Amino acid sequence: MTQQNKRLRSVVKGVGSALPQRCVSNRELEQTVDTSDEWIVQRTGIKQRYIAGEGETTSTLGAAAARAALAKAECAAEDIDLIICATSTPDYTFPSSATMIQAELGITKGVAFDLQAVCAGFVFAVATADKFLISGSHKRALVIGSETFSRILDWQDRTTCVLFGDGAGAIVLEAQESEAPEGSESDRGVLTSHLRSDGRHRAKLYVDGGPSTTQTAGHLRMEGKEVFRFAVGHVTDVMRDAFAATGVTADDLDWFVPHQANRRIIDASAQKLGIAPEKVVTTVQYHGNTSAASIPLALAVACEDGRIKRGDLVMIEAIGGGFTWGAAIIRW
Ligand code: UT7
Repeated sequence: MTQQNKRLRSVVKGVGSALPQRCVSNRELEQTVDTSDEWIVQRTGIKQRYIAGEGETTSTLGAAAARAALAKAECAAEDIDLIICATSTPDYTFPSSATMIQAELGITKGVAFDLQAVCAGFVFAVATADKFLISGSHKRALVIGSETFSRILDWQDRTTCVLFGDGAGAIVLEAQESEAPEGSESDRGVLTSHLRSDGRHRAKLYVDGGPSTTQTAGHLRMEGKEVFRFAVGHVTDVMRDAFAATGVTADDLDWFVPHQANRRIIDASAQKLGIAPEKVVTTVQYHGNTSAASIPLALAVACEDGRIKRGDLVMIEAIGGGFTWGAAIIRW
């Protein structure tokens, strides 16, 4: 009977993050683009963002975040056999940033690859790593979200350039055997994940270049209002799916850690699902929208300041270009 109830869970062992050295305030942006601190704060909640300088890239930031996560997890780099780096801004078209991070960490075994689902990338990467780990094929994963969106922004376009920032976050996930009753407080790990995509929305959020079209990296283009509408109107479906799959309710959640694009989207989504405002982790004011890095950066802040603790129920959720969107519930 006990044997039958044994299952593998992907348990979070540690979280880490890394930011570029240079912090750019809204006031500083006022000097170069026709905008105002007041507009940016009112419309988005963003007060500052970090912008990568010379020598700071998606792989260097990702490696720094990974090192920090390994230290928190008290895990040696050589014990990692799976690295997934969620990014839309890789150092190069190839090789993947994940393999660059792997080499930087001195890891020579296992597998490393990038995953591209834009701002939903970290949720997609957690879901993917979880499926590897619970299959028994791999034991310990580094799941990284790392971005340098500043390098694909059109700095003349005030409707997009004020919104994004650079940074990286990472978690260590470990496959652990659990005999705890499903859904109980000792049943730790990724409890469920739900991913969606719908390519019909491509033109609302895209980059206007790429190797196979323009042979350039291109610049980010966005119909902000349309993305906003979709984010608030539709994305709650995956969160409802996550609740239905686990029996967890909004009241049961300890923390809601959504993608950090816009404070108004975060607040509206939480309200729609009945999640109390004090359970919402918001870091968009510090980092701006860092795409796939935003959730692990927020997780790192909330773990560091003692909000997220072992045993807490945490929901992560994001939407990105494509559109792609997803949610997961994790017992910390
Ligand atoms: O991470 C991927 C997902 N991305 C998102 O979730 C972003 C979703 N969208 C949004 O967050 C919001 O739509 C924005 C923050 C991008 C824009 O907010 P909005 O309330 O939808 O503003 P808007 O686009 O309707 O623009 C309102 C006004 C316009 O002026 P008019 O036409 O009313 O005269 C814009 O030209 O604000 C103007 N505007 C600005 N003004 C000062 C646009 N950008 C700026 C700016 N500074 N940076």
